[in-house]
Amino acid sequence: MKKIAIAKTEEQFDALAASRVIGQIMRRPSSVIGLSTGRTTHNMHRVIARFFSQFDFNLHDVTFFGVDEVMNVPREYAGACYTMLRNELIDDLRIDDSHFLMLPTHSDDYPRTCHAFEQTLESRGGIDLLILGLGENGHLGFNQPGTPFESVTRATRMDEQLEKRIRRETNTPSDVFLGGISLGLKTIMHSRKIVLVAKGAHKADMVRQMLEGPITPDVPASVLQLHPDCEFLLDTQAAKYLQHEYQ
Ligand code: GLP
Repeated sequence: MKKIAIAKTEEQFDALAASRVIGQIMRRPSSVIGLSTGRTTHNMHRVIARFFSQFDFNLHDVTFFGVDEVMNVPREYAGACYTMLRNELIDDLRIDDSHFLMLPTHSDDYPRTCHAFEQTLESRGGIDLLILGLGENGHLGFNQPGTPFESVTRATRMDEQLEKRIRRETNTPSDVFLGGISLGLKTIMHSRKIVLVAKGAHKADMVRQMLEGPITPDVPASVLQLHPDCEFLLDTQAAKYLQHEYQ
């Protein structure tokens, strides 16, 4: 039985998504929680920040990390995941640097850096909760269509549209590679709990393929059908092409 929640309003969507993170922290204050960036998760981060500013809560033990990062841009660039997460959530919660783990935007040795990142997550007890956005082409993090299910954290490519936008915004010359560095699909599947969030009509076709289509590397998000504890949190627009009744 797939676990699917369909929010009727944007407020309900953001509140539900935020409650998954808040609930995880309350249940296990030393949780390791992976966050995604983008339009879908912006408001939920603000809801979490508001919640913890209202209620005194010890957040010293929680570790947050980013699912992915843009390569070869300054970390301070407004579209870098590091800066987005800092601005949307991490600074407000006053999370110590040692408890906010990000893949780097620059490295001399990406394979080594990625391996070290995975080891750090392992040494903190492994991933308790992972919040994942959904790409319109079915990507998870920067795992584009065709990514093997066995993939681990690594440097990879981003989709063409996003690459164009970031290149323009950062004035990156065309001879500099602009890629993504991302948790792999195998790493994602090792998380104890996953919440996939998707909202908007532009995601509806991919939501249907992800949930009701074949499990295939052509649709990386379809692998989540196999995860024993993955919840799919949608709004009514994103859910509009689903054939089955889920609620
Ligand atoms: C980017 C990020 C993903 C994110 C996705 C969804 O590609 N690399 O981690 O989940 O966008 O973004 P949005 O919520 O803006 O649709």
